[in-house]
Amino acid sequence: MHWIIDTDAGVDDAIGLVMPFVPGRYPNFTLLAITTVGGNVPLEHVNVNVGAVLDLLGAPLPFYAGCARPMLQPPVHAADFHGKDGLGDAGLSRTQRAPEPLHAALAICRFAQRYSGDLGVITLGPLTNLALACNLDPSLPQRIARVVVMGGAWQARGNQTAAAEFNIAADPESARVVLERFPRITLVPWEVSLEQMMPFERLEAIAAADSPRARFFAAMTRIAYTWRDHFGLQGVPLPDPLAVAVALDEAVIAETIEARVWVDVGHDVGRGMTALDRRSPEPNARVVTRVHAEHAWAMIAEAWRL
Ligand code: BDR
Ligand code: CA
Repeated sequence: MHWIIDTDAGVDDAIGLVMPFVPGRYPNFTLLAITTVGGNVPLEHVNVNVGAVLDLLGAPLPFYAGCARPMLQPPVHAADFHGKDGLGDAGLSRTQRAPEPLHAALAICRFAQRYSGDLGVITLGPLTNLALACNLDPSLPQRIARVVVMGGAWQARGNQTAAAEFNIAADPESARVVLERFPRITLVPWEVSLEQMMPFERLEAIAAADSPRARFFAAMTRIAYTWRDHFGLQGVPLPDPLAVAVALDEAVIAETIEARVWVDVGHDVGRGMTALDRRSPEPNARVVTRVHAEHAWAMIAEAWRL
């Protein structure tokens, strides 16, 4: 299948973006393009960060700049987690590459026409581009065969607000549109990465390898130690890489719940909450509640040690 990755890169996004680039390893996964969206950091930084990752990979892959702001509310960012530049403030955020002239939402629509029924989209940021694309082309949900979304908090253990995960909280209206339009989304929520954090020793083992990718990884993930110190995390949550792992290899999935997932777009404490209706006769999501973490970490290590 052909794929697009939509990202607000972001440290863990960058880790996920490299994962498909293991020669010969994922013959059924063809990455067509990356689309960018404002989120963890403002869009101009996201574009530079995606260019920097593609430079590291030496990949001739096109990328398309998308929405700089959410549909309705003002933008929110996460510089405390990802650094001001989005790649851990380690001097990695630079590139000569520029995005293609087409807007990301239009690029998604165009690829969906060309690869209708044989296209998957992985979203690693706020869902603004995909929601906009759905409104530009109402046939999109029939054309895109698989959607893997890193987003939501199935136990309402929010990381942005008390109840909401960042990617949904950053643009709840777009998340609502996407979850209402697509018939069966694979949702990889925040708690999976929180309960199955990569141990620091694993991170260090990848960072210690002698390769350009590993050196980039080492510099970028130094910021993870501030997560430990500031947020008391005993390991490294890697939500976006887990979503990419699920798209690359379904065998990573250990447990799921079929449910109708509703996004709260109200304006009180529940805004951005993803509520699971497990009794609904019309489930719209397969919510991943547990992964085979060893498998996923091995996939990350394999790609980053190269
Ligand atoms: C999500 O928010 C971002 O900070 C991460 O990149 C991930 O996509 C986790 O809530
Ligand atoms: Ca992200």
